[in-house]
Amino acid sequence: MTNHDFSRFSVPSAEPLQIAVVGSGYVGLVAAVCFAEMGHEVICVDNDQRKVDALKGGDTLIHELHLPELLNRYRNTRVRFMTDLAEATRECQAIFIAVGTPQSETGDADLSYVEAVACEIARTLTSYKVIVEKSTVPVYTNEWIRRVIERNGVHRELFDVVSNPEFLREGTAVADFLHPDRIVVGSDTPRAAALLAEIYAPLTSGTYYQKPDHIRGACSTAAPPPLLDTSTKSAEIIKHASNAFLALKISFINAVANLCEAADANVEQVARGMGLDRRIGARFLRPGIGYGGSCFPKDVAAFRSVAEQMGVDFTLLCEVEKINVGQKKRFLSKVRSALWTLRGKRLAVLGLSFKGETDDIRESPAIEMVKMLLAEGCSISAFDPAAMDRARQVLPPAANLAYEESAYDAARDADALLILTDWQEFATLDLALLHKSLRYAIVIDGRNLYDPQVMVQHGFTYLSVGRPAATPVRDFVSIS
Ligand code: UGA
Repeated sequence: MTNHDFSRFSVPSAEPLQIAVVGSGYVGLVAAVCFAEMGHEVICVDNDQRKVDALKGGDTLIHELHLPELLNRYRNTRVRFMTDLAEATRECQAIFIAVGTPQSETGDADLSYVEAVACEIARTLTSYKVIVEKSTVPVYTNEWIRRVIERNGVHRELFDVVSNPEFLREGTAVADFLHPDRIVVGSDTPRAAALLAEIYAPLTSGTYYQKPDHIRGACSTAAPPPLLDTSTKSAEIIKHASNAFLALKISFINAVANLCEAADANVEQVARGMGLDRRIGARFLRPGIGYGGSCFPKDVAAFRSVAEQMGVDFTLLCEVEKINVGQKKRFLSKVRSALWTLRGKRLAVLGLSFKGETDDIRESPAIEMVKMLLAEGCSISAFDPAAMDRARQVLPPAANLAYEESAYDAARDADALLILTDWQEFATLDLALLHKSLRYAIVIDGRNLYDPQVMVQHGFTYLSVGRPAATPVRDFVSIS
């Protein structure tokens, strides 16, 4: 760990700092409005004019708690949206790069957007700036950005490159930004570290939490978040290693769930017993149909690829991926074990997004399950509270696929109901109404949202993950 002296930033500066954020996706847009909420002046740059126009008009483009409220509070005042990166570079002291780093065919992160932004910044640099990478990137990216800017003729004294990874979860991104477990700043010079410390001072000093209308969360004036001062390379690895470790935790509990099924044990009891050990912790031990989203699958693959390129044996990550893929196949077998044959079966599907409380369907295990079930010849009635518009774009309605207005509409006359996403509203369904709607009272729950005993009391045959199948007496019995 580096030892920069941040004591003079224990109180935020009176003047707002000028910050540019490049990219207005989940990370960039949330960072932009949250920096404004912390008192800074922000320019959010995106090369997509339609997005810029929509944001100027108050459309957040994504489904995220608190985002509409903050966007309305700051748009066109403390947060300006534009396509002109040169102007933003000239006006700002720090430029955060938050553009996409999609997965290439080999599993590597594709860094061409980051490179393009670095080149464009280089063309306008005439006074000292700190360039901050906030996108999730492999360990050597910081050096490449530095090299690219120097190659474009900028003197080394005119800029520093810092790594400041984010740990936001979709659905709770705004609260995660303003109430982080930690703020990681990877920098190799004291002046760059100092500017980042100043930017985050409203949080680390606790003054933000004194604002009467501040967004609530775990941090407070008495318990502000810590700022971790590291080298750039350590910061880059912290991000990848954190996501890979969380994915590993999920695959681990999924493998344990499979063992529980084989042994007739209950994975919820096992996870609770493990999680109470503070060294393990209870979070990210929820079994299911595997992890998805725009981060874990991509980041595990990228981290594995980085290790491979550096000659480090990290095949553990291949196992994490293998278990994750296997989890969906197991769920399909479970559906088959409950229904015998699949061709021609009519299934109700609850949930299409990759997790609850978001409309994001990128790498969604639910979407993959729907595709697998359609390929098996099932017909599906699906419902999701927020992700149906996006789902229609990848899986258009067809004779064998309908999108319904509610869980109960989806359930009508279905041979079984499948729960594929952990939306809060799916955990509180009217079970009597559900029972009446279904043709056969069979629920196959890929997210363990219900207590098996409660389901049996309501007359359901209930199959979940890592728990014994629950069946009302003299009713249907599953055969594996
Ligand atoms: C994840 C990380 O949690 C964030 O810290 C990180 O900043 C973010 O990736 C990123 O790199 O941008 P996110 O993808 O929004 O956040 O979603 P998570 O809540 O982590 O869930 C990821 C997947 O794991 C979901 O499919 C979820 O259903 C699954 N999951 C999660 C489980 O199956 N079990 C669990 O116990 C937890």
